[in-house]
Amino acid sequence: MTGAERQMVLGAAQWWPGGEHISAWRRTSAQPESFLDLDYYVNWARTAERGKFDTVFLADELYVWDRFNSGVEFSSNVKPEPFTLLAAIATATERIGLAATISTTYNEPYHAARKIASLDFISKGRAGWNLVTSASDEEARNFGRAKNVDHATRYERGREFVDVVRKLWDSWDDDALLHDKTTGRFADPTKMHTLNHEGKHFKVRGPLNVARPPQGYPVLFQAGASDAGRDLAAATADAVFTLTGTVERLQEFYRDVKQRTVAYGRHRDDVKILPMLIPVLGTTEEEARSKSQELYDLTPQALALDLLSHYLEVDLAQRSLDEPLKFVADMSTTNQSKSVYERVARIASDPSVTLGEVYRRLFDERVRYGTPAKMADYMQEAFENEAADGFLIMAPYLPDGLSDFVDQVVPELQARGLFRTEYEATTLRGHLHLDRPASSYTTSA
Ligand SMILES: Cc1cc2nc3c(=O)[nH]c(=O)nc-3n(C[C@H](O)[C@H](O)[C@H](O)COP(=O)(O)O)c2cc1C
Repeated sequence: MTGAERQMVLGAAQWWPGGEHISAWRRTSAQPESFLDLDYYVNWARTAERGKFDTVFLADELYVWDRFNSGVEFSSNVKPEPFTLLAAIATATERIGLAATISTTYNEPYHAARKIASLDFISKGRAGWNLVTSASDEEARNFGRAKNVDHATRYERGREFVDVVRKLWDSWDDDALLHDKTTGRFADPTKMHTLNHEGKHFKVRGPLNVARPPQGYPVLFQAGASDAGRDLAAATADAVFTLTGTVERLQEFYRDVKQRTVAYGRHRDDVKILPMLIPVLGTTEEEARSKSQELYDLTPQALALDLLSHYLEVDLAQRSLDEPLKFVADMSTTNQSKSVYERVARIASDPSVTLGEVYRRLFDERVRYGTPAKMADYMQEAFENEAADGFLIMAPYLPDGLSDFVDQVVPELQARGLFRTEYEATTLRGHLHLDRPASSYTTSA
């Protein structure tokens, strides 16, 4: 694709249903009583579709954050199971991609392959999945373990999981189903493949009881940032999410993942790099910053301290936000997300920094404040300088954080020729300019 044709990829994501700030559900415009209502999520997806976004994406974890009382008391821990929800959203939207997280540590490939393939059929080729390896012990305890699987094993299992899922999707050749009422032949058995996979982590006979998905392989996202995470992304993913940062920091990640991708024999454009972006918009930067002050003011001290305790894996409940943190990081002891731990440790390495400042900078570092034009400037600079192929927009608060972006920043990007004004494709792979992969049985024949 030539430089002139290259268009930004945009995804709309949510982790907390109220928006990316943990206390966003308390804002006046928030609708916490609707966090289990289909309409709430349909409106969100339709807003993104009005903005011609490539995809929506629902982050997910398999537990309630009850490590601390404040997590239950002050944060919004309930939401619908994402693939069930996306199937319903599919019927209320037409073009936008529909993606959600799957834990490869606490799922079986057969379940995942079947669920994602079904969504791909229901949505006519708009399904995507985000492979995560699950970072917390709370998730482990819901699946028969006291402690989480160690980091290296999680990624090793993740790699095998992708192979098995894709092989399951190849169970039926594209022309295997005959539907021939005259002869009575529903399918051609010579075009069905039994996997008989026996690996280190999985033993799966197959075949899958869903036909080959419309996209062949629904789009695979990945968000791991550690060495193992980047490697898995380079080997298997169609797109990679990463944290926001300065253009220079993003360039390091971008070049590294593209190089690894090429080393795996793939083309550098086969993997799109999508930093997340939390946009706080205002008519001036000061106005935008004052909106974020409101979010801090809505966060109880206990919740801020417990969030830090979670990330640093030490109990800070008896401390005050005004005290210096004085924290010495030890990478060898963490089995949660290594990249998140590293980021907190970097901020905390300044001996004079207070707990309150660390908490604030953890959010601030991920946020861009500014006018719509300034937001577009930053996105354009990253897009044109090997730092991003697009962005995952995580609105700081919902629903207005996304509609503001769609109404104010998208037209700015479109006017600059950086983003589509109409959908050209009907599938998520099509939006991302990715070909439909041939079945592994065809390519290896
Ligand atoms: C944009 C974005 C979305 C993510 N979504 C999820 C998610 O839905 N569920 C989850 O458990 N982890 C999620 N993660 C965390 C990553 O999967 C991964 O655990 C984290 O980046 C640390 O990876 P590492 O252990 O390779 O350093 C997300 C990360 C990013 C940057």
